[in-house]
Amino acid sequence: MQTYLIRTFGCQMNKHDSERVAGLLGAQGLEPVEAAEDADVVVFMTCCVRENADERLRGQVRSLKSVKAARPGQLIAVGGCIGQRDGETLLRQIPHIDVVFGTHNLAHLPALLESARQQHQPQVEVLAESTDFNSDLPTVREHRWHAWVPITSGCNNFCSYCIVPHVRGRERSRTLEDIVTEVEGLVSQGVLEVTLLGQNVNSYGRDLYGEPRFAEALRAVGATGIKRIRFATSHPKDLSADTIAAMVEVDAVMPYVHLPVQSGSDTVLAAMNRHYTQADYLALVERIKAALPHIAISTDIIVGFPGETEQDFEGTLEIVRAVGFDQAFTFIYSPREGTPAARMDGQVPREVSQERFDRLIELVQSSALENSLSLVGTVQPILIEGTSKRDETMLAGRTRTNKMVHAPLPEGHVADEYAGRIVDVVIDHAQTWFLSGQLAGTDQ
Ligand code: SAH
Ligand code: SF4
Ligand code: F3S
Repeated sequence: MQTYLIRTFGCQMNKHDSERVAGLLGAQGLEPVEAAEDADVVVFMTCCVRENADERLRGQVRSLKSVKAARPGQLIAVGGCIGQRDGETLLRQIPHIDVVFGTHNLAHLPALLESARQQHQPQVEVLAESTDFNSDLPTVREHRWHAWVPITSGCNNFCSYCIVPHVRGRERSRTLEDIVTEVEGLVSQGVLEVTLLGQNVNSYGRDLYGEPRFAEALRAVGATGIKRIRFATSHPKDLSADTIAAMVEVDAVMPYVHLPVQSGSDTVLAAMNRHYTQADYLALVERIKAALPHIAISTDIIVGFPGETEQDFEGTLEIVRAVGFDQAFTFIYSPREGTPAARMDGQVPREVSQERFDRLIELVQSSALENSLSLVGTVQPILIEGTSKRDETMLAGRTRTNKMVHAPLPEGHVADEYAGRIVDVVIDHAQTWFLSGQLAGTDQ
């Protein structure tokens, strides 16, 4: 029996792609294993959005050289965004790689592995663009109850710091029928929650229908009977009034929005090519909160963008205070070759970025803790995923706002009785990123 291991870096799009790669390899009769030493095929699904992800990948692949030497016939494949960007170059840098593939051709991986095996020669295949969405490929999902459903691929925004449009290509939408058919299939398999994926879901449909149709997509997916709908990512410039209306109308749409702000300074936002100001963003948040008072908002923030002054950074702190984010993914700006920002004047020294970053984290954590504490004493419907990784006597699941909750498994019961159910939990304790509570019993 042949075996495989997949290591995934980067965003949800890569997690989704890895589930398809697992499905493809599984369909070839390969079994998953946990350690590279036991794997006949090791696949890296890579990310190059920041330099540290890039370096970690190279480190990990290099360190497999001795593992490979000890396991004759092992094949190493590198796909995802670094595969797409570097192609042949990667083989020259790390000669013990057997297959390099890109973001547009993961369906070809089994064939590329087979050629590498038969010809005893490395294979490189990187295509300029995709021909389909791979929705008919087999999949092995990480969670039984949850599925990633891409609705667009690529991005047309070209934020000045970002490599994604260069490695994922131009924005392309799936047809509404195709999406609905996939979600109906998932519902019939017992999936309870889908996350609709795109670099900017709000512009979904523009290429197909001449105008964005994201609100329609939410309504149509809601009509499939799926219990929970999440989506990421929303670009603030494109989140429409109709989308907010659909979020209110469709019960299954969770009260949670990931709305990357990137910076609170108008000068920096303009240099980033984001097409909104601090005031536009705050006004949008007001409209969302007016329609959905209990919504949780998360964000992405970059510190140390070229030219960022202390005053610009204060603007970022100001917006974090004003919005009260539930969670913020914070990054130190990392120059990416081929993007306009990498050539801008005023690159910020590392110590300055680091110091701003530390201040930002402190503020973000206190805002997240405040939001968590506000839930103590409330009853929250939790989708139980299973037990906590560290404690098998604790059930683990998520609130509608995507916060992780632990609750003791009642004595005399097993976790399987609860997994995949939405149960009420009385929250009695809150930490920054975790809540805990007691089962209140009733199913929804
Ligand atoms: N499409 C999404 C996410 C893209 S990548 C969006 O538009 O929000 C995820 C996050 O990585 C971005 O939101 C941004 O905050 C961060 N990021 C992208 N390029 C970066 C860079 N060069 N340096 C630091 N952070 C970066
Ligand atoms: Fe990158 Fe901007 Fe596209 Fe997001 S919207 S993927 S940050 S270019
Ligand atoms: Fe990284 Fe590629 Fe996603 S660069 S963030 S894995 S689209």
